[in-house]
Amino acid sequence: MRRAAHDEPVSTTRQSPADEELADFPFPEGPRATPSPEFARRRAECPLSRVRLPTGDTALLAVRHRDIQQIMGDDARFTRDLSAPGSPRLFHNLLMLDDPTILLNMHGEDHLRLRRIMASAFTPRRADALRPKIQEKIDLLLDEVERGERPVDLMQFAYRLPTSLMCGMLGIPEEDGPQLKEWVSAWLSFAMSPEELDRAARGFDDYVVALAARRRAEPGDVLIDHLISARDVDDRLSEDELVSMVRTLVIGGNETIAGSLSRMLLTLLTRREHWEALRRDRSLVPAAIEELLRHSPPGGGGSGLMRMATEDVVLESGSGVVRKGEGVFTPLVAAGHDPEAFPEPDLVRFDRPRTPGTVQFGAGRHYCVGVHLARVELELALTSLLDRFPDLRLAVPVEELVWSEGTYGVTLPALPVVW
Ligand code: HEM
Repeated sequence: MRRAAHDEPVSTTRQSPADEELADFPFPEGPRATPSPEFARRRAECPLSRVRLPTGDTALLAVRHRDIQQIMGDDARFTRDLSAPGSPRLFHNLLMLDDPTILLNMHGEDHLRLRRIMASAFTPRRADALRPKIQEKIDLLLDEVERGERPVDLMQFAYRLPTSLMCGMLGIPEEDGPQLKEWVSAWLSFAMSPEELDRAARGFDDYVVALAARRRAEPGDVLIDHLISARDVDDRLSEDELVSMVRTLVIGGNETIAGSLSRMLLTLLTRREHWEALRRDRSLVPAAIEELLRHSPPGGGGSGLMRMATEDVVLESGSGVVRKGEGVFTPLVAAGHDPEAFPEPDLVRFDRPRTPGTVQFGAGRHYCVGVHLARVELELALTSLLDRFPDLRLAVPVEELVWSEGTYGVTLPALPVVW
């Protein structure tokens, strides 16, 4: 199912003896999942600097909001397709970044064609139409939370909500939800062996091919049926493309929601005045979501992806030059904490003036397809939690929460709460 790597040789970013002193990236999280202080230091001293990746390759790191906006938005001179031989690698064995068939990693015409098909299913109108269904799902899941023995692990809710919505959209039986989550974990893991990853990849591909065959025989009216019957120009999606679309959606739609919901709750429960403010005034919720995503994007210090320059690019801010063939990272958390764009960035402020072109959902051609759905899911989930559990609080001191290791992006495996 993998597309062959294209052949243009690239990369000036392999490790060389001079790289030995370079800092290792991704940086460890700061305490309580705050951004690493390394981002602020580099913003002040070396806003475009070189770091060493876990593979031993090196890449550039952009830490200013302006630079990150420019790089993510410049699809003409940066590519997300890192499949060329010699392209820098963040981790070996990371399916999500190494798979050139998922939308996020595609470039050019192929990307535009598949994106057009996918985007038609994710309009603001469709996201709004899903509100009653999403609310119904939230109510059922929170009934279970309410009945559960305390402390309750809210990560179960944070994962089950997007997984079960995605199951509904893709015609996947609910009971296969946990299997779906296992496959997603494999895509995001860099700690699994190549054999385990291969098994997961094949298991998923076979599952989707069988699913598509079932839906073709008995079509319904959910997303998967639209993707199956989608025509672009005059051709259907190939079977491989359909599998890749489904793969893109389960990766894009699950961890992001679970990660952002849990980080939002953590911020609100440890800065109680903001939880109380939302309790008093639900109309603040949409602004709160944007602010909390800025403050603590899903994935933390590892959020944001690498791009490669296809020609020399001078950064307009004066931060430096990205040379052709060089990889450059654009961490969303670094963008969101740049005081030039967000004064006093560590403060959470629901009345923060809007900064044009924020990048929490990306920029340019890869801008998040699921943005409208994500906002609706987060708004309804947060509002329902405020309504049903006004006295929600962490069940353990925040320092005792354990953060994930061995996965792309830092997440909370468990969020124990009481009320
Ligand atoms: C709070 C939740 C979410 C956040 C913060 C988020 C963030 C992002 C960002 C930053 C990108 C661009 C990455 C880049 O260009 O480097 C992106 C792309 C994408 N997102 Fe989301 N996302 C969220 C939820 C979702 C959901 C719910 C879905 C699907 C149902 C989704 C599907 C996608 C897809 C398919 C892409 C790739 C688009 C392309 O390459 O053309 N996302 N997202």
